Amino acid sequence: MTLDNTSFALPVARTVESLRNVVSRWRQDGESVALVPTMGALHRGHLALVEKARANSDRVVVSIFVNPAQFAAHEDFGDYPRTEREDIEKLKPLGVDLIYGPAASEMYEPDFSTSIVVGGVSEGLCTVTRPHFFGGVALVVAKLLLQCLPDIAIFGEKDYQQLLVIRRMVRDLNIPVEILSGPTEREKDGLAISSRNVYLSGQERARAVEISRTLKEIVVAVERGGDIRSALAAGEARLKKAGFDPVDYLEVCDAVTLEPLTDLTCDARVLGAAHLGQTRLIDNFPISSAGSRRNPDV
Ligand code: PAF
Repeated sequence: MTLDNTSFALPVARTVESLRNVVSRWRQDGESVALVPTMGALHRGHLALVEKARANSDRVVVSIFVNPAQFAAHEDFGDYPRTEREDIEKLKPLGVDLIYGPAASEMYEPDFSTSIVVGGVSEGLCTVTRPHFFGGVALVVAKLLLQCLPDIAIFGEKDYQQLLVIRRMVRDLNIPVEILSGPTEREKDGLAISSRNVYLSGQERARAVEISRTLKEIVVAVERGGDIRSALAAGEARLKKAGFDPVDYLEVCDAVTLEPLTDLTCDARVLGAAHLGQTRLIDNFPISSAGSRRNPDV
């Protein structure tokens, strides 16, 4: 069993076997288990998910694994920040019980040949420019859930489409894990916290907040009964003026199915992804149909 108890601030399991040994001991004692899957480079957003895990279960496992399957060849897999030791230091005060930090060779055999395709909610939005992405996420999350078999697993709403893809996969494959979510954590000016924000130059950081402001403006316009297409066109113009190029997408979608909406007929979500220099930023906000003059029940 490979459980590193000495060189880190918390015990680290490097193999599926050592993870399962620890979790099965907890299970024998009747304890519940939460898993928080991450790719490391932990920030306040991750720590809030860990706190939620702590509040909802007896034991908390945090996985740290930069998953090659969700990066295309031209993307930032090589540059993605790897800060495992600092990450583990941040997790210690939060009462985490175990880190799961497998090597890529533990997760993927050289002749690994299984794929998972989640239809419906994975179509459109991020998939248009990152067609490999949700297949890679679904694969690694399915593996992590099956390796750990927690009672609950927690994901951030910042990656809203990812959250819905994971929920759909877990439901469709009858994986016996409850998926919980945590709200997007933001900087003081409103920028959604992301591990990739470290790529932004000083000037880009100042302009980056325009993506959350633009989405918020769309929320206000649409909730007041404004035309969705006009609000999106104004939003795209605002982003381009702020230097975002390209804007991958800006859409108002059904909050459950992610079908694009042109009328506010149900609770919705505005979602956007756009590039600022080398950095791709994504964000989203809920749109309530409750007060809308378009809602026939009001
Ligand atoms: O959101 C992330 O950090 C990753 O996509 C996840 C869910 C940990 C899978 O690698």
